[in-house]
Amino acid sequence: MRDSVFSPAFGNRPSRLVGRDAVVAEMLAGLEEPPGSRSRATLLLGQRGSGKTVLLWEVADRARELGFVVANPTIATEGMLERVIEKIQDDGERYVKEKTAHLTGGSVGALGFSAGLQFDRNVRTSKSFPYQLSHLCEALAQRNRGVLILVDEIQGNDPQVRQLVAAYQELVGARANVALIMAGLPAAVSATLNDRVLTFLNRAGKLSLEPLAPVEIDAFFVKAFKQLGLHVSPDHRRRAVAATCGSPYLLQLVGHNLVLYAADDGTVDDESLENALASAQASFENDVCGTTLAALSDKDACFLVAMSQDENESRLADIAERMGVTRDYAQKYRKRLMSAGIIEAPRRGYVRFAVPYLANHLRRTCEIASDF
Ligand SMILES: Nc1ncnc2c1ncn2[C@@H]1O[C@H](COP(=O)(O)OP(=O)(O)OP(=O)(O)O)[C@@H](O)[C@H]1O
Ligand SMILES: [Mg+2]
Repeated sequence: MRDSVFSPAFGNRPSRLVGRDAVVAEMLAGLEEPPGSRSRATLLLGQRGSGKTVLLWEVADRARELGFVVANPTIATEGMLERVIEKIQDDGERYVKEKTAHLTGGSVGALGFSAGLQFDRNVRTSKSFPYQLSHLCEALAQRNRGVLILVDEIQGNDPQVRQLVAAYQELVGARANVALIMAGLPAAVSATLNDRVLTFLNRAGKLSLEPLAPVEIDAFFVKAFKQLGLHVSPDHRRRAVAATCGSPYLLQLVGHNLVLYAADDGTVDDESLENALASAQASFENDVCGTTLAALSDKDACFLVAMSQDENESRLADIAERMGVTRDYAQKYRKRLMSAGIIEAPRRGYVRFAVPYLANHLRRTCEIASDF
């Protein structure tokens, strides 16, 4: 069978964005607020595969419909600031050309621009990022256009993010019509302390991408299976929904593997369901659990290994004992892993995994390691 619905790949726009209407609406509502209001700076936080990148692209499209000039998601890394400028110029060009081409030969007619939103040589080579950004915002404001900047994969301590945040704050001070949405892992943002960026990030509106509700996934599966001609019994469908653990990436993986393992006539029996779920889980463990662990310190990983000995939740006192450290010491790791969104506290003195299949993954990899 051919899969025309599910596409499990990072950054891939899904055929339907499941269960994120409220988050999208909240980000767009921020854009409707007057310039300078707090909800115009948003931090989108979520684990790997929770859908941060695709949400940024969705907001880009929707903000354009609202008339904003949008700098499409830029990854927070070297060269980001130059890319942001270029993207605003590219997207804003159409508004500038439409209205002024016949009057000014295409330039916005303001000092510093050569044609359209392109800067003249002097500005290009000798003016700072904040200067260029504020001039673009000004030129677009003359055309009643606000500017939305989207940044993906932010790291709290990134010098480029620091510069962007400083420039944004200056613009806000000048009441410019600008908005900023940045996405990242909770861990990346909680990592740096006592930093100007952190103060800003702490004050920005935060949106956490929670697991999708089972009813939303179920409703989507019903429609998707029908569209694909896949015959899945209600009981099998329930198991498929449960196996996604609310993760959008797992939703794509489970759906796609069901298509792969279904019989030619679309039937999904016990065996094909088992195979599909196992294969989805293996991909998730590899792509999400493996990457999550690779980013942790040895001690943090030790804490998680100690947790993985328990079936469901772990007592902090037991973990400290298994690690051979004091309870206070174990608390430090608990705190860090909690703010990274990797574990959660179901009740006082206890912790459990917040990333699906991470416990399994640890148990399995530890078993393999002890075989050697
Ligand atoms: N709301 C959603 N409904 C359906 N599928 C989704 C949804 N959100 C994300 N996906 C799918 O999940 C996968 C992961 O999405 P995405 O790449 O946006 O995650 P991410 O949070 O940016 O991950 P990372 O932190 O690794 O960059 C993609 O295949 C995407 O199509
Ligand atoms: Mg991403």
